[in-house]
Amino acid sequence: MTRLTRADLDALPNYVPGRNVADLARELGIAEAIKLASNEVPYGPLPGVVEAITDAARTVHRYPDMGVVQLRDRIGERFGVAPERVVTGCGSVALAEILVKATCLPGDEIVYSWRSFEAYPIIAAGGGATSVRVPNTAAHGHDLTAIAEAITDQTRLVFVCNPNNPTGTSLRRAELDRFLGEVPSDVLVVLDEAYREFVTDPDVPDGLETYGDRPNVVVLRTMSKAWGLAGLRMGYLVAQPEIAATIRKVVTPFSTSLVAQAAALAALDQEAEVRRRCAEVVTERSRVTEALRKLSLDVPDSQANFVWLPLGDRTAAFTAACENRGVIVRGFHPEGVRVTIGTPEENDQFLMVAEATLTATS
Ligand SMILES: Cc1ncc(COP(=O)(O)O)c(C=O)c1O
Repeated sequence: MTRLTRADLDALPNYVPGRNVADLARELGIAEAIKLASNEVPYGPLPGVVEAITDAARTVHRYPDMGVVQLRDRIGERFGVAPERVVTGCGSVALAEILVKATCLPGDEIVYSWRSFEAYPIIAAGGGATSVRVPNTAAHGHDLTAIAEAITDQTRLVFVCNPNNPTGTSLRRAELDRFLGEVPSDVLVVLDEAYREFVTDPDVPDGLETYGDRPNVVVLRTMSKAWGLAGLRMGYLVAQPEIAATIRKVVTPFSTSLVAQAAALAALDQEAEVRRRCAEVVTERSRVTEALRKLSLDVPDSQANFVWLPLGDRTAAFTAACENRGVIVRGFHPEGVRVTIGTPEENDQFLMVAEATLTATS
């Protein structure tokens, strides 16, 4: 057969989305399944967001503001950066793709920790770049010394995921200071801070505040998690003005939709509510972590809205057992399982299933 697509993409894994709750409930014949697989916050859209979306819907026959002026102004104001340094996109994952497009030619290298965000290898391969994966430390975090050593003349981009998805581990200020001091000035470091709002450890630096002015640092944020806009796709990055200008040249035109812009503006009015919700997640995160540790699991401290169960070769069986009891979690066999923090009731149900499964198999 004539080959019409790139042969190198055949070996690429698919991005695995969390399973659909309604499908699972139907399959199991239960009223409701629980989804703790995609790191969303469980409290619904923020106040005012649905109204803003409804309002915006009246003009969807028009293109959105391609310059995203009002929203970039607002984000710039919120973080004390000039709006020309802000680029928005259809989720931060799209911006990660654009960063590859803006920095890498075929064969250039992208270095990242592994295991980390599952989209990195897909994004790198899609952009024709070569992935250089640096194994996590025994404590499930980034090995910054090894990452710095993995940088070569071919390296154009380094993804640093802080806190790390899926392990929840975080880098502290001293190690990041040292690392950023070692990275060559012609290599762009992307600080992917999708879970920044859930960080409570004061030693884990806010990348934007602490490193945002470095010439070779880009900070990536999303409104999918703490800000409750996962379904609308809205992410942003902050970079130096020249870098932002180049990125803007290759970003998909109009990819921050009119509805997403309106919803993001409404969500940004709700910072106090976001903080309140994040505090609830953090309280539950501690409770779930402690309960899992009582089951003899070596759960690392998480600074995100999920926890990591390093179950090794028990991963697939545990993930399936949870699913059979109506709880969808995200397994990365044969390493471990990532479980999103849900409502207290959802977490209780997960813990019940975890206890039953782990005591039955241990
Ligand atoms: C570390 C990390 N970065 C980026 C993203 C992408 O988020 P979105 O594209 O929804 O903004 C995710 C989503 O799970 C993530 O975990």
